[in-house]
Amino acid sequence: MQINPKTVKKQFEKSLTTYNENAVVQNLMAEKLVNELVKFRSNFESVLELGCGAGLLTKKIVENVRFSKYFANDLVENSEKYVKSIVPEAVFYCGNAQRIKPSRKVDLIVSNAMFQWIDNLSKISENCKNSLNPSGILAFTSFSPENYKEIKDLTGLSLEYKTFDAVKEIFEKDFEIIYSEEFRHTMNFSSPLEVLAHMKNTGVNSLNSKHWTVGEVKEFCAEYMEKYPQNPLTYAGMIFICKR
Ligand SMILES: C[S@@+](CC[C@H](N)C(=O)[O-])C[C@H]1O[C@@H](n2cnc3c(N)ncnc32)[C@H](O)[C@@H]1O
Repeated sequence: MQINPKTVKKQFEKSLTTYNENAVVQNLMAEKLVNELVKFRSNFESVLELGCGAGLLTKKIVENVRFSKYFANDLVENSEKYVKSIVPEAVFYCGNAQRIKPSRKVDLIVSNAMFQWIDNLSKISENCKNSLNPSGILAFTSFSPENYKEIKDLTGLSLEYKTFDAVKEIFEKDFEIIYSEEFRHTMNFSSPLEVLAHMKNTGVNSLNSKHWTVGEVKEFCAEYMEKYPQNPLTYAGMIFICKR
């Protein structure tokens, strides 16, 4: 599926208010990312967060990392409000993370559950390198091809997730990878409709691109229950901590 930032923006705009309470796995990812990051370093003069959303990761950075300047970015304008409720003096850059240029170089770039929406990872790797001071750190999480495998299996719809090895190869060109990990987490729901609601509430409505008729939804639910009686939804992702 082609990534269209306008569609991505629309999906996340709608889900900002429901995101944090539904994004169970993204919350675990943010926690893991920060836990691993602080093992290397927990004091940075300046931080840039890409795709900050409703501030799940922002909150964990504030609780665990010392910094004096916070720059945050998201495609969605309203995200500024969430970030500023956590870091009131944060500077917010609204727009595509692939194109933003912070006013100065920073010491840490972080991003949780966003890089899967970037179609040119080589470009963002290079941009991050150029936005970091020497010895600066880029710490991010993303998703891999097994993510939402049940949905792909039944509908054929999926983002073109890159494998762990492909992501590693891209970032290795610009950074020394000091930590990396693959993870998997399965959530179980009480019905396929709840699976769909969960995806919608976390902004990942990959079924959005096509309007489903009531009949199609019923058919999807019937197939889901037959093939996946426990109504699971697989999350599969990766964590990278890279040093400039
Ligand atoms: C799954 S949410 C993660 C939000 C947050 N990082 C967290 O830890 O919960 C992905 C966020 O990335 C943003 N996003 C997606 N593509 C983006 C892009 N190209 N540039 C900037 N933000 C983007 C979305 O608007 C959304 O807020």
